[in-house]
Amino acid sequence: MAAHYQILGSTSAAISASVETGIRSGALAAGDALPPVRALATALAVSPATVARAYQELRQRGLVVTAGRHGTRVRPRPPVAPRRAARAPAPAPGTRDVSHGQPDPRLLPPFGPHLAALADTVGPPVGYATTGVHPALAEAARSRLAADGVPADELTVTGGALDGIERLLATHLRPGDAVGLEDPGWANLLDLVAALGLRPVGFPVDEEGPVVCGVRDAVALGVRALVVTSRAQNPTGAAVSADRAGELRALLAGRPDLLLIEDDHAAELSRLPVHPLAGATPTWAFVRSVSKPYGPDLRLAVLAGDEVTVSRVAGRARVGAGWVSTVLQRLVLSLWRDPATTALVDRAADAYERRRRGLLAALADRGVAGHGRSGINVWLPVPDETATVTALRDAGWSVAPGGLSRLGSPPAVRITVSALDDADLVPLADAVAAAVRPAGPVGFTA
Ligand SMILES: Cc1ncc(COP(=O)(O)O)c(C=O)c1O
Repeated sequence: MAAHYQILGSTSAAISASVETGIRSGALAAGDALPPVRALATALAVSPATVARAYQELRQRGLVVTAGRHGTRVRPRPPVAPRRAARAPAPAPGTRDVSHGQPDPRLLPPFGPHLAALADTVGPPVGYATTGVHPALAEAARSRLAADGVPADELTVTGGALDGIERLLATHLRPGDAVGLEDPGWANLLDLVAALGLRPVGFPVDEEGPVVCGVRDAVALGVRALVVTSRAQNPTGAAVSADRAGELRALLAGRPDLLLIEDDHAAELSRLPVHPLAGATPTWAFVRSVSKPYGPDLRLAVLAGDEVTVSRVAGRARVGAGWVSTVLQRLVLSLWRDPATTALVDRAADAYERRRRGLLAALADRGVAGHGRSGINVWLPVPDETATVTALRDAGWSVAPGGLSRLGSPPAVRITVSALDDADLVPLADAVAAAVRPAGPVGFTA
């Protein structure tokens, strides 16, 4: 949608500041189109080069995206916090929200008893001198990762997976460097890469993970880092298979110039084993978040890697945020050690498996093919994203447009199955089938 916000300014700095103000105030929303360079230049009585410079600066900071004939638009999540009233677009009123990509809050383990136990055992207040990675958490993380074939002698803790990935990219790459990303891939990561001024180079994924020739092409294009999702790839549900891991390891072996990042966000929720690439390259990191199994509000991930990489991430944290609170680290440790919590996470994993398979089967019964080998999402290629999102909204379902997750891959929508009940599957599948194949005159065209 074109925005009606009036951009002002007579220098490129003033013009980009005016756009930023529009985003911050909510007057310019995600997806809003900025005026074409020449039109804005004429309106502001400045040269087109001045406006082009302003747009370029906004692009490099990840506030806007320029996509060929679609012109320049505000990114889905520009790195400028809007005022409270203008935060994330709510799903259409009266619709069921299956667009959010979050775990089912009903299936997250309760923290209450663990917090109460911590209150009794937390000991004297912790000062600056006694912080960092909590030794018992590190030890537990090491043995959990080692059991999955991830060498974790070197390990640190970050404020979630995306925080770890941000520090990895920021300590190895410079603005303008290319980074290889799954296409389609995790929308938040696309936004982060844009905000860091990095150049995304997409590679395709199939059910078994990154497609080898696509990764080869990305490497040939000079990417400095690759991010691969181990399991429950967001949005397609791909999981790296043993064969694919072997092929990718062989392709990437011994490339000292390439940072290989693995994101195992599904962790204990996955019913598929992890086939790590860790160690295939001399420079690598394996990041495992606790957000999906235990709760996004814990803001904690463990990050294993080679010595230099882990030391850079930990060192960069030390001169910035410092460390992840030892209170949170103790809480995660307490959750990991609790058999009742493990049972709840297992139950959630089973529920997600059932809901995802149930929706895929109901769709297949209606002749609609979706993807979702693992995780909490179903990815549905469609001929027209906007038409499908609109038709489903009119039928009472808010789904995510694939455009948030895509670089150059074909149109699709994402449906999060995490909070679906059995009774939802048939109505949702019916609505999807009607939306992707709208009824109309068949056989005769005007
Ligand atoms: C691919 C992927 N990685 C990681 C995460 C979790 O990130 P964080 O640990 O920053 O909450 C998500 C959550 O949606 C995700 O989809």
